[in-house]
Amino acid sequence: MDIFRTKSVEQSIRDTEAPEHQLRKRLTAMDLMVFGIGVIVGTGIFVLTGQVAKEVAGPAVAVSFVVAGVVCGLAALCYAEFASTIPVAGSAYTFSFATLGEFPAWVIGWDLILELALAAAVVSVGWSGYFASMLDSVGIHLPPSIAGDDPVVNLPAVVIVFLLTAILVVGIKISSRVNLILVITKITVVLLVIVAGLFFVKGANYTPFIPEPVHSPGVEGLKAPLIQVLFGVTPVAFGVIGIFSAAAIVFFAFIGFDIVATAAEETVRPQRDVPRGIIGSLVVCTVLYVAVSLVVVGMQPYKELSTSAPLSDAFTAVGHPWLATIISVGAIAGLTTVVLVLLLGQTRVLFAMCRDGLLPRRLAVVHPTFGTPARLTILVGVVTMALAGFVSFGELAELVNIGTLFAFMVVSIGVVVLRRTRPDLERGFRVPLVPLLPILSVLACLYLMLNLPLETWLRFVIWMVIGVVVYFGYGYRHSRRGAVAAPSGE
Ligand code: ALA
Repeated sequence: MDIFRTKSVEQSIRDTEAPEHQLRKRLTAMDLMVFGIGVIVGTGIFVLTGQVAKEVAGPAVAVSFVVAGVVCGLAALCYAEFASTIPVAGSAYTFSFATLGEFPAWVIGWDLILELALAAAVVSVGWSGYFASMLDSVGIHLPPSIAGDDPVVNLPAVVIVFLLTAILVVGIKISSRVNLILVITKITVVLLVIVAGLFFVKGANYTPFIPEPVHSPGVEGLKAPLIQVLFGVTPVAFGVIGIFSAAAIVFFAFIGFDIVATAAEETVRPQRDVPRGIIGSLVVCTVLYVAVSLVVVGMQPYKELSTSAPLSDAFTAVGHPWLATIISVGAIAGLTTVVLVLLLGQTRVLFAMCRDGLLPRRLAVVHPTFGTPARLTILVGVVTMALAGFVSFGELAELVNIGTLFAFMVVSIGVVVLRRTRPDLERGFRVPLVPLLPILSVLACLYLMLNLPLETWLRFVIWMVIGVVVYFGYGYRHSRRGAVAAPSGE
């Protein structure tokens, strides 16, 4: 049994050339940046900023954004090198298949479902919250059974996923146009928060910038971070340690730059444009996050920030509710693009897995008219609708974080492995200081993972065990790589 069989880089690229499995190459570096920013700026900045400043980091939340941004930056360099070497749909999944072997690749692909589909569902629930509150502000009240904190079916979340799925089925170029309009709206609103907010910043709100640490014995059992369970560290809110705990949460705000790599196969000049798209979108977002969080914690004492809509509520608090409404509209636009690109990324990863036979190959057929993997897109849409409509999330955002950090670690390791196994490959972009930077990336991701709660780790392990069962029950036996390796067997 050879579960570490790799798929050569050349084979990965050849597979993309079979006409019935071919995605159209249309995207440029600018399209990729728009995609990147479209998926990165979302719930993290619009919702988590307030919650984290209020409960974990105080005004120093801006520093947490820098920490999370640096961790992502290290991983982004590794993603950029990979994507410039293997410009094939599937991102971390494809990279792992080329370097670490089929089973690790499967593990990553399975893990990415946790990142992408689950994140799409989480963000669509957030979208629904903003949508309901905007309707509230114009006097339309949705019944609690279909929207709000604990609905029977979260109808707005289901409807938005349905509409976005339809857009994705019809074609990627249409999707990137819709995305462009929504991204422009979102960035305008973010800039509005920064510029308008500056007029209401009070220096006193920045003192203390790093509040005194508070020991919180309430965080015990399954809710305790793994680092505490393993090393007996007492959970602390605020202080310098709080800055790092907050970084593990606001990490969610950066999720998405890696998805730019999933569109490599649809890029006209992937070697040059994918690294630009990945690193460019990450840099823009980090700058915006630091600026927004500094302004918001300057507008209101951090203890008074709202946890559901901190950006707009800060303007209500300073007596400008009309600005708050504009910001809500921007948040709705912003969250729409996040769900759109997450759905797109999920479809592309599954597409690559189906094409390799690890999941049913007939799902990876490209629609003759639309040129998109329509069947898979619909399947992903239906599953996400079910999750968004019926499951109540809360801390599942942390599950998204752990899944993503795990993928970042594997990609960072993969860069070092590929340098050794295939030094000959042309690399459009090279990570500096290999292996130092990839090792730092692995350690940084691991550190953030350790800051996540025990229950998140348990859920993560359970999901991965299910994945292993599916692999040995289906994937291993149907793998095309396996069929190539042993034509008479299996
Ligand atoms: N980064 C995305 C967000 O913050 C997932 O919503």
